[in-house]
Amino acid sequence: MLHLASASEPSWVGRALADLDAILLDHAHLEKKAAAAALNLIFRYPDRPLLMQPLSELAREELLHFEAVLAALGKRGSSFGPQRPAPYAGRLREVARVKEPERLLDSLICSALIEARSAERMGLLKDALLAAEGEPERALGRLYQGLLAAEARHHRLYLDLAESLFPKPEVDARLDQLARHEAAILADAPLEPRFHNR
Ligand SMILES: [Fe+2]
Ligand SMILES: [Fe+2]
Repeated sequence: MLHLASASEPSWVGRALADLDAILLDHAHLEKKAAAAALNLIFRYPDRPLLMQPLSELAREELLHFEAVLAALGKRGSSFGPQRPAPYAGRLREVARVKEPERLLDSLICSALIEARSAERMGLLKDALLAAEGEPERALGRLYQGLLAAEARHHRLYLDLAESLFPKPEVDARLDQLARHEAAILADAPLEPRFHNR
């Protein structure tokens, strides 16, 4: 269960398939940012030993995903390069509270929601790519099949960490608020072939 307050527009996958190079470049940046977000929590909360091992494992796994997506870009004759940041994650995280420990709870929930939306969209891409004619597209579909299971697991891990540090009713209430905020940001995002755009 991904705890998202909205389902993606079905037309998103058509825009993604029309520019797979752009989607893969965006995806590579996302995996790199997911690793950085986990490491950032390790640096920010040395007083929370419970976070260290799971977030270290998660950061390593995201870097393996980053390498897998770099390889997929290479196979298509495309390469990694700079990219202008999409507004999504910044807008999601801007409502995080600044005072501790609320800041930690909001950081964990924002990461959980980003993982959930990535998993949802990887599922849409996977279905479309596995049904495609060409073998390169189907190979990419198999890559997404593997990755989406990991991102759904990361979603659950961030919520489990939140529930181990905060009372469950508090986590549930804040998850509900931030999930509605995430859905509103996405409904207002630019129409552009990116993972967290419309
Ligand atoms: Fe990942
Ligand atoms: Fe992830």
